[in-house]
Amino acid sequence: MDFKLTEEQLMIQQAARDFAQNELLPEVIERDDAQRFPKEEVKKMGELGFLGMMVDSKYGGSGLDTLSYVLVMEELSKVDASCSVIVSVNNSLVCWGLETFGTEEQKQKYLTRLTTGESIGAFCLSEPEAGSDATSQKTTAIDKGDHYVLNGTKNWITNGSSADIYLVIAQTDIEKGHKGINALIVEKGAEGFEIGPKENKLGIRGSDTHSLIFNDVKVPKENRIGEDGFGFKFAMKTLSGGRIGIAAQALGIAAGAYELALKYSKQRKAFGTEIANHQAIAFKLADMHTSIEAARMLVYKAAMDKDNHENYDLSGAMAKLYASKVAMDVAVEAVQIHGGNGFVKDYHVERLMRDAKITQIYEGTSEIQKIVISRSILRD
Ligand code: CAA
Ligand code: FAD
Repeated sequence: MDFKLTEEQLMIQQAARDFAQNELLPEVIERDDAQRFPKEEVKKMGELGFLGMMVDSKYGGSGLDTLSYVLVMEELSKVDASCSVIVSVNNSLVCWGLETFGTEEQKQKYLTRLTTGESIGAFCLSEPEAGSDATSQKTTAIDKGDHYVLNGTKNWITNGSSADIYLVIAQTDIEKGHKGINALIVEKGAEGFEIGPKENKLGIRGSDTHSLIFNDVKVPKENRIGEDGFGFKFAMKTLSGGRIGIAAQALGIAAGAYELALKYSKQRKAFGTEIANHQAIAFKLADMHTSIEAARMLVYKAAMDKDNHENYDLSGAMAKLYASKVAMDVAVEAVQIHGGNGFVKDYHVERLMRDAKITQIYEGTSEIQKIVISRSILRD
């Protein structure tokens, strides 16, 4: 494995680092406090090409590889994981799903708006009774000839109120189980489509998470993605790539927390010396650095598998499982190294610790990643 980054990748990494420091850092604490969606920042990310990174330039995308996308996710997440989850959902769930499986008409109509930031996308799989158990879809999309009628509730939807293009997974034929599920494109403003209140969350508080309610929403047949019954496979295939993005988010959170802890440990003095000179702190830093490097290898490897058109279901799941654990462990230690200062908002590490937790929950919990990994190794 050669992880030597190309000139282009290094430039993109630097652009994301500069953007995170100059545009995201200044108000990140206020956004977190107020649960404010980073509207202006998202607009700027659209201008920088961060919202359609892997999409072909003919649809307004940046035409970059997955590794470049991962580098951007890592840099943004070091500073603001609320912003990076918006980037992750838009890029790897919505844009990738549409570009890979959508019709030319769907791509012209929707993808071109999503890559520039003119529109934001949401991916709607989870329901009150279908989270990890994603095949148990209760939302229905009944076939009425030239359209579907959508009824049901989705919950936990990222970009819930800020999006205007929603990819909604729903059951058309219950007899066929997961083979009777479809993926539909639903536009904001469709009659009968209601957005529930915003969730008040532990972390990624700048990102808006909502329930969505569908009451007899008419969705034209041309808005179905793929063949009839392809919806569950669509969701699974899309999530396989999405998990690489969340793994990169976790890696970034860990790296951000580590960098702050390293700096602080070289400045703060106790017992007549910098705390980094106490072996207990130095060893924490050694463990943090080592686990971050290991996570980085897994995340980059998964991205390269995708770029090399190799199977990335397993490598993506392993990257997410491991990087999310590292994010949580490292962020907790970063708070510890900061002592009392770690417990207050000004030092950023408490936010990174709160943000880290979600990476073990969404896009498949850690337990679900272990199901994916164990099934894969036992099958092969
Ligand atoms: N690619 C293609 N097909 C796949 C697949 C993949 N990666 N994984 C599963 N499938 C297919 C299977 O082959 C099977 O089809 P066949 O019967 O034709 O072979 C079908 O899907 C059902 O699979 P399983 O029999 O394995 O189903 P299961 O019920 O045992 O569980 C699961 C599957 C992996 C646990 C799945 O339900 C799952 O991934 N759950 C977690 C859901 C999740 O990740 N949600 C995330 C929501 S989005 C989000 O969270 C965004 C965000 O926060 C920002
Ligand atoms: P459950 O499935 O009820 O799981 C509860 C616990 O049981 C977990 O620890 C789980 O790992 C464990 N468990 C369940 N089944 C098993 C099993 N078979 N073996 C072992 N352990 C098991 N979803 C979307 O569709 N789109 C989004 O944009 C989106 N964004 C989100 C944003 C946030 C902030 C949050 C919190 C969630 C988001 N989700 C989204 C939903 C997320 O994907 C689900 O919360 C997640 O998949 C878990 O589902 P659940 O919450 O129903 O937990």
